[in-house]
Amino acid sequence: MTSVASTTADGRAPKKDPWELPDVSGMRVGVLGGTGDQGRGLAYRLARSGMAVTIGSRAAERAQQAAEEIGHGVRGADNAECARESDIVIVAVPWEGHAKTIESLREELAGKLVVDCVNPLGFDKKGAYALVPEEGSAAEQAAALLPESRVTAAFHHLSAVLLSDPEVEEIETDVMVLGEVRADCEIVQALAGRIPGMRGVFAGRLRNAHQVESLVANLISVNRRYKAHAGVRLTDI
Ligand SMILES: NC(=O)c1ccc[n+]([C@@H]2O[C@H](COP(=O)([O-])OP(=O)(O)OC[C@H]3O[C@@H](n4cnc5c(N)ncnc54)[C@H](OP(=O)(O)O)[C@@H]3O)[C@@H](O)[C@H]2O)c1
Repeated sequence: MTSVASTTADGRAPKKDPWELPDVSGMRVGVLGGTGDQGRGLAYRLARSGMAVTIGSRAAERAQQAAEEIGHGVRGADNAECARESDIVIVAVPWEGHAKTIESLREELAGKLVVDCVNPLGFDKKGAYALVPEEGSAAEQAAALLPESRVTAAFHHLSAVLLSDPEVEEIETDVMVLGEVRADCEIVQALAGRIPGMRGVFAGRLRNAHQVESLVANLISVNRRYKAHAGVRLTDI
């Protein structure tokens, strides 16, 4: 850890090292829709990194069953209980169920750090394409529906296949983190950084979430062409 002086020579507050991130090890992470591919994969990786994790489902028994399969101390509960008992709540439900799910959990999510990883996509015979939500993006829809929560967006470009594969030791990718409050983004960056190979990188405010969500349509094309599970690396940082 670098030591930082309290002011610079010109009297201004010094710039903080952007890689100096908070310790999130004491926090519990909840994953709404945690019985699905993305939710299971994230829960597995985060629990394997030592985080306390609860996965949520519309049916508690389904979550408990999935939690048992994931192991590493992961708990299963219905989505409401999952939100209530977690400090950080990842939204990992399909776009079709996004608004309804988070709207129904407004009370449980009040004050929580919400991380939206939902990619609004359509599919036709030409492949995947980005949908344009009325609010601009899934993350902005979440922010509009959850005025009392701290909404961020991250984890859009991960491969659920790689996340869930116990043979894969490192997930070589960067995670773009977006949000309105820098301290909240830093918590999510730190969370991403717990997964070996992954870096959490601040990538702007929620009004720029649409491009990040949409990029998944391109990654799906890449994956189909090269039979891969492509991630994203940002260079020169
Ligand atoms: N798969 C990936 O590689 C990946 C990568 C990055 C981001 N994402 C994003 O993560 C989200 C989840 O992806 P996924 O592939 O895991 O999806 P999924 O398996 O189809 O769904 C995840 C879970 O959401 C719940 N669910 C299904 N339909 C729902 C509805 N209408 N309303 C509320 N809950 C519903 C289900 O859990 P219960 O039935 O148990 O409630 C399901 O297991 C998507 O928005 C996707 O864009 C996915």
